[in-house]
Amino acid sequence: MSITNFRTTGAGAASGSRAASKVTFQTLQEKKQGHRPISALTAYDYATARLVDEADVDLILVGDSLAMVVMGYETTLPVTVDEMLHHTRAVRRAVKRAVVVADMPFGSYQNSVAEGVANAVRFVKEAGAEAVKIEGGAVRCELVERLTNAGIPVVGHLGLTPQAVHRMGGYKVQGRTQAAAEELARDARMLEAAGASVIVLEGMPMEVAAEITAQLRIPTIGIGAGPNCDGQILVFHDLVNLSFSPPAKFVRRYGDAAALFRSAIESYRRDVEERAFPSEAESYGLAVQANAASRQH
Ligand code: KIV
Repeated sequence: MSITNFRTTGAGAASGSRAASKVTFQTLQEKKQGHRPISALTAYDYATARLVDEADVDLILVGDSLAMVVMGYETTLPVTVDEMLHHTRAVRRAVKRAVVVADMPFGSYQNSVAEGVANAVRFVKEAGAEAVKIEGGAVRCELVERLTNAGIPVVGHLGLTPQAVHRMGGYKVQGRTQAAAEELARDARMLEAAGASVIVLEGMPMEVAAEITAQLRIPTIGIGAGPNCDGQILVFHDLVNLSFSPPAKFVRRYGDAAALFRSAIESYRRDVEERAFPSEAESYGLAVQANAASRQH
């Protein structure tokens, strides 16, 4: 009996022909060893998570960036554990193949290791996350070790860490001096030693990210960290032009959902105003046979 691909339902069945097997952290580790790049994207709801999963992206992060791109806040700081749980559940219901990682929001793990563990358990138990992501280096090692020992894989996050926006004095590239670069590399090694499964490297010189990637056994996933990480991640809304802000240097827009949605919404409004929608064919009538009516929805 094969134990590697025993699914009979799910995304493959739902989309007709797919039979891709479930991605695990073991898969990501094997990808690093085989020099095969890891793809990752954020998603925050059922519809987009389904599209991302059906496109065979390896890892889906329910990022706290949802505070900005979904909820309209200026920073990631205000989003709460309950709000993150709500979105993680929606993503979980959509995803069959990718690894689902939930971002621990600001304030959910900084107070104490015990509170961090308790909140991480909620993401796994109440929302179906397979791992949690936490920002920071050496200072997070105790928490990483506790979570790993509790059976919860941890994704670390180093460099430009948005929850530290005020300490950094803005969203600035990190690790630009020799000392800062060495500190990032040391943090990365310590996170790996503490048990982290993957580390996100955000907003740092590509040379620094390449060096960290070479030093680690676990995969790195870059965002604004150059091409030599083991994988790449982008914020979904940046990818499809739904973030309502000029793109950062590292963003590549692969589609224009804003233009697509605008045109559909404007066409709909025009049709309503000109009484062109709905048509008779899109309406119910009284003069239908009972059996025909029973087939209508
Ligand atoms: O919250 C987020 O979306 C993230 C990614 C940018 C890595 O942390």
